Amino acid sequence: MTSPGIDGAPGHEAAPSPLWSAIGAQLRQPEGIRGAVIGRLMALANAGPNRRALAALGVVPEDRVLEVGFGPGGALATLAGCGVAKVCGLDPSHRMVSAARRRHRRLIESGRMELAHGALPLMPWADEAFDKILLVNVLYFLDPARGDLSILRRALRPAGRLVLYATDRVTMQRWRFAGPETHRTYTAQECVAVLARAGFEETAIRSAELRFPFGIKGFLVTAYR
Ligand SMILES: C[S@@+](CC[C@H](N)C(=O)[O-])C[C@H]1O[C@@H](n2cnc3c(N)ncnc32)[C@H](O)[C@@H]1O
Repeated sequence: MTSPGIDGAPGHEAAPSPLWSAIGAQLRQPEGIRGAVIGRLMALANAGPNRRALAALGVVPEDRVLEVGFGPGGALATLAGCGVAKVCGLDPSHRMVSAARRRHRRLIESGRMELAHGALPLMPWADEAFDKILLVNVLYFLDPARGDLSILRRALRPAGRLVLYATDRVTMQRWRFAGPETHRTYTAQECVAVLARAGFEETAIRSAELRFPFGIKGFLVTAYR
């Protein structure tokens, strides 16, 4: 996961308990009252990664930006406050989408924000609709074999930028809620490889290791269409 700051017991060699699996499922798609609680924790735990990812995204006023899996909406709110040309978001969680729609009602009415309820591989916007795409702690829930990353590439204009943050597999393996039944985990090298296979400009993909409290190791990857 998801979330620097939330720690589980070491290893998931044993069969996952229903409790850990239920937490993993909520991280994958937060719903109901439990989803609201998980959303609050996510917002706290993901603040650091979001800050770093937004800095790497480097938005300018003309940008049309898509955040995939905005969840509790920390990055979405920052993007909304930056005054970029357009902010769009895609998320399958009814709870997260309705909360974000309430929070950003004015911006949505003005046409500067669009929030879609849905999950990749669904892409409600046209090819080349975006200058920049952001994903923070969402990679685990995508399926490169299904073409999810190629779909993101197609949604970028030529030379458009994708920035993603994910916690490294070495850390995720300590978190029982991040078992294989809900999370696909990656090293930075594997992430770079799946992006290259999805058609992102191979020589321009950059990854940087990030360290967070509690020994959490993650990576920030920047790729171009
Ligand atoms: C762990 S949360 C991260 C939320 C947010 N990016 C943050 O940093 O706080 C993952 C989010 O991705 C969404 N998600 C899961 N699968 C998805 C998919 N296939 N396409 C788009 N979003 C997805 C979930 O509903 C959830 O809100």
